[in-house]
Amino acid sequence: MNVRFDGQVAIVTGAGNGLGKSHALELARRGARVVVNDLGGARDGSGASLSAAEEVVAEIEALGGEAMASGANVTDYAEVEAMVQRAVDKWGRVDILVNNAGILRDKSFAKADLDDFKLVIEVHLMGAVNCTKAVWGLMREQNYGRIVMTTSSSGLYGNFGQSNYGAAKTALVGLMNTLYLEGEKYGIRVNCLSPTARTRMTEDIIPDPKILDLMTPESVTAGLVALVAEEAPNRFILGAGAGAYACARILETEGIYLSPEEQTPENVLANLDAISEDSQQKELIGGLNQTVKFVQKAARALDVELG
Ligand code: NAI
Repeated sequence: MNVRFDGQVAIVTGAGNGLGKSHALELARRGARVVVNDLGGARDGSGASLSAAEEVVAEIEALGGEAMASGANVTDYAEVEAMVQRAVDKWGRVDILVNNAGILRDKSFAKADLDDFKLVIEVHLMGAVNCTKAVWGLMREQNYGRIVMTTSSSGLYGNFGQSNYGAAKTALVGLMNTLYLEGEKYGIRVNCLSPTARTRMTEDIIPDPKILDLMTPESVTAGLVALVAEEAPNRFILGAGAGAYACARILETEGIYLSPEEQTPENVLANLDAISEDSQQKELIGGLNQTVKFVQKAARALDVELG
């Protein structure tokens, strides 16, 4: 199998630096025409400049590829819509959206500033929502689309000082779960990438240069490209870093049933081991499946015939 994107158009947000730049270059090397979006601000989101995006466009053009720079702020829906319109006016379609733009405003929750908290949610969550909304109708009409949300281990598993960032990053998993259900019949596949790589975001957090040298953006990009290929999986959370690749999942145990007289907090606490016993745990696709499972358990225990 040779993953190619000839004739396809990709938008990569936050592609002026780090992972987004690596993603944009590789998509272009494999034949995609790429919108290189970047606000061009600092790591905390302050400031703006088109030069970072323009430099990546120049690199793509030097490789013989086609690209356009966009300084759209992903938090501004009108700017995002105009970016998508420019791509459509020039290239006729958008096949791939990589929601990658992001900022950090780290602080322990006790010291967290609520305006910082809101801004981090605005960039990571609403930025991805805005970009996805702006291409969703197009992708439905063309019956094809590949969308990636960039989540993080800080959201999936927690990280000291990153309550704002972690909350935003896991919200993207929730966004994927429903867009998967709504996009599947239109050929739209939605996945999450959970990267770990040497970029300006991590360079001072992981000070050991030997570790950083292993954490190449390119190793993450191989995973990203797989998630937007025609053969991509759907609703997959791919962890990628330093050449290692893993799948993250939310699983639910089989659980227990308590009769109406037993339904007390004391019994819930007394049964935590049985509730979390994991031999039959499963991934549920669609929230209604949990309701069905619970109601069926109760109906079986109470001998109620369900229609
Ligand atoms: P980076 O700071 O090098 O790149 C992020 C880019 O997003 C920057 O070029 C920035 O200008 C751009 N950006 C920020 N706000 C924007 C906005 N409102 N509109 C448009 N562009 C904007 O960081 P890095 O490491 O490449 O991060 C890429 C993504 O990967 C982010 O979503 C980050 O949260 C995520 N991530 C990175 C990890 C890592 O190990 N580097 C770990 C987990 C997640």
